[in-house]
Amino acid sequence: MKVQLLDLSAQYRKIRKEVLEEVKKVCDSQHYILGRNVSALETEVAAYCGARFAVGVASGTDALLLALMAANVGPGDKVVTTPFTFFATAGSIARLGAVPVFVDIDPDTYNLDPGAFDALLKKGAKGIKAVIPIHLYGQCADMGRINRTAERHGVKVIEDAAQAIGAEYDGKRACSFGDMACLSFYPTKNLGGIGDGGMITTDNEKTAERLRMLRVHGSRVRYYHDEVGLNSRLDEIQAAVLRVKLKRLDAWADARIKNAGRYGALFAKAGLAGNVTTPFVAPGRRMVYNQYVIRAKRRDELRAHLGAAGVGSEIYYPVPLHLQKCFKYLGCKKGAFPVSEQAAKEVLALPIYPELKPAEQKYVVETITGFYARNSR
Ligand SMILES: Cc1ncc(COP(=O)(O)O)c(C=O)c1O
Repeated sequence: MKVQLLDLSAQYRKIRKEVLEEVKKVCDSQHYILGRNVSALETEVAAYCGARFAVGVASGTDALLLALMAANVGPGDKVVTTPFTFFATAGSIARLGAVPVFVDIDPDTYNLDPGAFDALLKKGAKGIKAVIPIHLYGQCADMGRINRTAERHGVKVIEDAAQAIGAEYDGKRACSFGDMACLSFYPTKNLGGIGDGGMITTDNEKTAERLRMLRVHGSRVRYYHDEVGLNSRLDEIQAAVLRVKLKRLDAWADARIKNAGRYGALFAKAGLAGNVTTPFVAPGRRMVYNQYVIRAKRRDELRAHLGAAGVGSEIYYPVPLHLQKCFKYLGCKKGAFPVSEQAAKEVLALPIYPELKPAEQKYVVETITGFYARNSR
């Protein structure tokens, strides 16, 4: 049996006709940039997330960059985030000449440790303009505690919700907690386009207006530029496809949650407790499982064994950002963020996409069980 980490064609087969019809309509209209589909998707995503405004941009990375620009983050400013995230979170801070300030993660959820963030600010850290909590793997960070600390110290909150559209914390959805929130529509995301795309949500009308200006080279009136912005627009074809998919997003998230429950039962039955730790969902959260990530003893050997048996897996992420070559100048040493460093050695993402079949999940868990049966020391 072969089980891919993600099989996008299984989803595409079910919506192909509708997707192609919508793409054809865009082509027939010959209106490709910032048209009626982008406006409609902005309204629909804002409503879905429980935010007042949404602004479509070219990628999740640009969403972060533009949100930081709208938060007036510039050279020398400090922005707090974790080293255990996709590169873009910290990369976009550095691109603006600002300084990423890392705090470690919670070992169970892999999200920003609110206690570490609070301690940093209580110690009197200066120049911190914003914090970017990531809702990693599809589970919201502890937004209650993070927001309370941020508010006390006048720090702006920008959610990195790239992996978490539809995730909930205390009954509220991701993208409804921060001053701004960033989404990615990269094809592997729970809501993925047929290319790059992203969006920023906010409740603040002035911020939304500024973002709309910044995404078109800082221009409100064509060829008159108030600020130096970016060329970062969501295109009509992406928006048209994303609108087809948004209608199905909750059903797909439910299927991912169901698959996670099935894995939980299979792993419990397999008795792998000493070798495999299944994902922890904190109380009051709805995790939408953009990734199903276990912690595994002898992870790299297990991954090779899975690969040989035809099971796809991935490591998100093998090198914490404070140890990346490009961030050497920040002066963080090995051991500076031990929880992130340990996670980087142990995490392994398994197939979890909505169309995954029970027999395939059974095969994944049997393959893992077989590895530990043969290799227990
Ligand atoms: C946590 C996180 N932040 C930011 C991004 C950047 O999004 P994009 O790939 O659309 O630029 C991603 C996507 O890969 C992500 O997973």
